[in-house]
Formats: sequence, structure tokens, C-alpha cells
Amino acid sequence: MDEGERLQKVLARVGLGSRRTCEELIAEERVRVNGEIAELGRRVHPDVDLVEVDGAPIGIRPDLVHYLLNKPAGVVTTAADPQGRPTVVELVPAEPRVFPVGRLDLDTEGLLLLTNDGELANRIAHPSHGVDKEYLAQVRGTPSRAALRALREGVELDDGPTAPAQASLTAEGLVKLTIHEGRNRQVRRMLDAVGHPVERLIRTRIGPVADRRLAPGAWRSLTGAELRALERAVADAGRITSGPGRDAR
Ligand code: URA
Repeated sequence: MDEGERLQKVLARVGLGSRRTCEELIAEERVRVNGEIAELGRRVHPDVDLVEVDGAPIGIRPDLVHYLLNKPAGVVTTAADPQGRPTVVELVPAEPRVFPVGRLDLDTEGLLLLTNDGELANRIAHPSHGVDKEYLAQVRGTPSRAALRALREGVELDDGPTAPAQASLTAEGLVKLTIHEGRNRQVRRMLDAVGHPVERLIRTRIGPVADRRLAPGAWRSLTGAELRALERAVADAGRITSGPGRDAR
């Protein structure tokens, strides 16, 4: 990985003051990188490292909104549908304009983020940062232990094998599956591949964000704590995937 950028330069770019002022912020120990107090001279990768000033990620800006929607079945994950079906953006405020982060199939229910924060959206959606996503799938039949093991170890799909996942049976015919890739119809295809087609699919968690009480069709803003946890999850996932000495971008 290259050396990154000087921290005071990154802070100045997001509007925290001149480089000199930003150096003072660092000297006053008000800046943390990945949870640790930063020292002068520190270099960072702003798209991977979590930089906080006085406890707030520098990415947070008042003009940015981050919504968590519980998508009902039958709603499309696009901004506009040529066939006139209801869309997820119609379920949240029209202004400021937001877009969905990733996508859920027409018939998939559950948690979906919508935001006007393009940078965070890209980082969440980018496979090298892929935060884990948890799904609850009601399937035909009840998967055997061997089928669950296959889901965990990776199944062969027509676009290649899946990465290791977490899979468990929570009740008869109810599979909890956690993946961090985001391929098209991935959960449905994985369960098809082990002989248990999905009858109902719900996304129950996006990285650190979950909400069992949000009703279908309802939305709310992410809390500051959720946003920070999400920023951190994206930074951690980028580091884990890139490993030492490789460029995460
Ligand atoms: N996997 C699927 O198969 N469908 C979704 O909507 C999301 C993940």
C-alpha cells in the first residue's frame, strides 16, 4: 500500500481549517485514526482509515442523510421504474434526493440503506470493503448439516464459487445466512444450489445496523452511533480484505 496522505492535509480538505489549524487539532490530541490518538506526521488512507475529530467521523456533514428502510416485498430498488411499479425512493422523503445502497430483489424484504452520501455508499457497496449482510431465508424443505456446511464453505455458482459464509438453521426451514459479497440474487442462488429454493427472504442486518422494530415500509435516519459503527465496519472490512502491503482501492 502507498504511504497515504498527511493527516492535516486530509483534515483541511474536508473543511476543518487551514493545514496549520489542523496540525493544532492533531497536537491537541483531538484527532483519532482507527480509534487511536493520531500523532503529527501521521499518514492516512482516507477511504480506508476511520478519521475522527472530537469523536465524530470527518465524513459526517450536515447535508448528508442516511436512511434505514424496511423494504416490503413488491417494491423495486431503483429511483424510477419504467414499468411503473412502486420504488424504494418513494418510501422516503423526496428531498434531498437519495439513492439506494446496493439492491434487494423485488420480492426480498428487509433492511436497505438510502443516502445522498456517495462516498459512503461506494465504500459499502465496493466488494473489497463489503460489510457483512445477514439474511433470514424461509426455504423449501429443511437443509441438512451437509447443506449448511456447503453454504459455509462456498457453493459453486455460474459466476464462480461463493466466499465462506455463516449459515445456521434457526427453525425448521428457516436459514440464517451471513455473506459479505453482493452478487446478483446471491442468497437465492446459494440456497437453490444446495436444493432448498427460497420462499421468502428478509435482510435482517447490514454490518452493525439492525432493527427488529422497524415496520415494513417504514424508515428512520441512522443514529450517529450507527453511522460511526458503519464507517468503522467499512474501514475494518477494507483493511481485512486488503491485508498488509496491498492497496485496498
Ligand atoms: N440475495 C438475494 O438473493 N436477493 C437479495 O435481494 C439479496 C441478496
